[in-house]
Amino acid sequence: MVKICCIGAGYVGGPTMAMIAFKCPDIQVVVVDISAPRINAWNSDRLPIFEPGLDDVVRSCRNNNLFFSTDVESHVADADIIFVSVNTPTKTRGLGAGKAADLTYWESAARMIAEVAKSDKIVVEKSTVPVKTAEAIEKILTHNSRGINFQILSNPEFLAEGTAIDDLANPDRVLIGGRETPEGQKAVAALKDVYAHWVPEDRIITMNLWSAELSKLAANAILAQRISSINAMSALCEATGADVSEVAYAVGKDSRIGHKFLNASVGFGGSCFQKDILNLVYICECNGLIEVANYWKQVVQINDYQKARFVNRVVSSMFNTVSGKKIAILGFAFKKDTGDTRETPAIDVCQGLLGDKAQLCIYDPQVTEEQIRRDLVTSKFDWDHPQHLVVPPGSPTSNKNDTVRVTGDAYEAAKGAHGICIMTEWEEFKLLDYERIYQGMEKPAFVFDGRNVVKPEELRKIGFIVYSVGKPLDPWMKDLPAAPST
Ligand code: NAD
Ligand code: UDX
Repeated sequence: MVKICCIGAGYVGGPTMAMIAFKCPDIQVVVVDISAPRINAWNSDRLPIFEPGLDDVVRSCRNNNLFFSTDVESHVADADIIFVSVNTPTKTRGLGAGKAADLTYWESAARMIAEVAKSDKIVVEKSTVPVKTAEAIEKILTHNSRGINFQILSNPEFLAEGTAIDDLANPDRVLIGGRETPEGQKAVAALKDVYAHWVPEDRIITMNLWSAELSKLAANAILAQRISSINAMSALCEATGADVSEVAYAVGKDSRIGHKFLNASVGFGGSCFQKDILNLVYICECNGLIEVANYWKQVVQINDYQKARFVNRVVSSMFNTVSGKKIAILGFAFKKDTGDTRETPAIDVCQGLLGDKAQLCIYDPQVTEEQIRRDLVTSKFDWDHPQHLVVPPGSPTSNKNDTVRVTGDAYEAAKGAHGICIMTEWEEFKLLDYERIYQGMEKPAFVFDGRNVVKPEELRKIGFIVYSVGKPLDPWMKDLPAAPST
């Protein structure tokens, strides 16, 4: 029986390994992590991440051929194939701070593998890493190998949160990069055999290591670029009376462009896009490609501009101050169908409004109060560096009577509010009784829709003043300043 061990039981390690175990009953899969609470949750009825369909997959193979354990070293020693799916955050200190990937977690995993391995291993990069990381990992492993042969493969993951199970069951492609030596190609074939249990052969693409590593960064950069492109257009739509949904529809009808990823929004979030583009920018700079670096940097800058523009719309519409005003924040996750808040635009919007002394009441169906409070006091990039998460005394996490309230109900959040900001496109926000919400709010009552989930005309009929990203402006907002200077 082939034995797989995956280091890192996070949003990628957990679901990907569950799918391998589900599709390959002849393979034993163990997912290990240094975080005992995370492993305990994987072994419980309440998994550590919310992902539609994940519970069923885990339940069907857990303790048959899928195991979760904190006994990292013994399972690594035992495995034939080791996936490394640890976090690769943006560096917060030192050389490349604010851009470069921090490979501390990866390096410590590699050193541990070298230390405990007693037989030949295939080591698979599942984390998203800078191009040429495999070379560095190879050096760590071979210099500490004591005669053991390690083959490094790049097998980047393309799942998106909220649709991870479907993405894993029916991937557009699986990429496997390996050394072009006989041993390298043998390792590629071994990993290909795993995926071939359920992925059609023409979707398993093999290539050289550096192409595979770079393809992942390129795919994320190009996806994020589409969002920044349509968001840039949304600002122009608001200035001219065009409707961004109509423009996106017309543009997407061109079969060379297509419809996906053209939804204007308050900005993209998630743990990957910003981190991976900044990493790409850093690699370009290190290679002296300053113009290329500046090109990709602009994708992140437009995203920051979009979030700032949204806050500005809220404040300028409400007589240029939100001081002391209750604002309901509907949705905190970075997209629907996940409880993940990493780099969610809701954080920037909330911080912007708190900076103007608003009183926030936040509701999200999947995000806990503890998580929201932690996010609102965590410094940029620190969320993925658990050792930095020391909450300063007196911060909103430790004070319940402060400017942030978290509630378990959208109606409660909106009660007595001057405005509502929709930050996540949860289906339930489309179905709310806005008539009832309007009755309970201060007047004039505002809705600022950062995800284009409501129908502005219907809400205006009720009496709301409505802002929807990239849509023709409410007469109320026509003469107000549109954008902050950056
Ligand atoms: P995550 O933070 O959810 O999970 C990483 C896990 O690794 C954590 O549980 C952590 O405790 C564990 N870990 C860190 N160092 C360890 C060590 N030395 N030994 C054992 N466990 C260790 O991160 P994630 O979202 O799963 O992302 C992992 C990687 O996959 C990143 O490189 C990310 O860019 C990439 N990726 C993420 C997504 C996504 O949607 N989240 C998609 C594609 C690729
Ligand atoms: C992304 C990539 O899609 C995935 O392939 C990669 O493996 C990890 O990074 P993820 O971040 O989970 O996945 O979600 P995604 O669906 O890409 O959304 C990212 C952000 O962009 C979200 O905040 C989403 O709301 C936003 N978005 C997406 C838009 O604003 N408009 C769109 O048209 C699409």
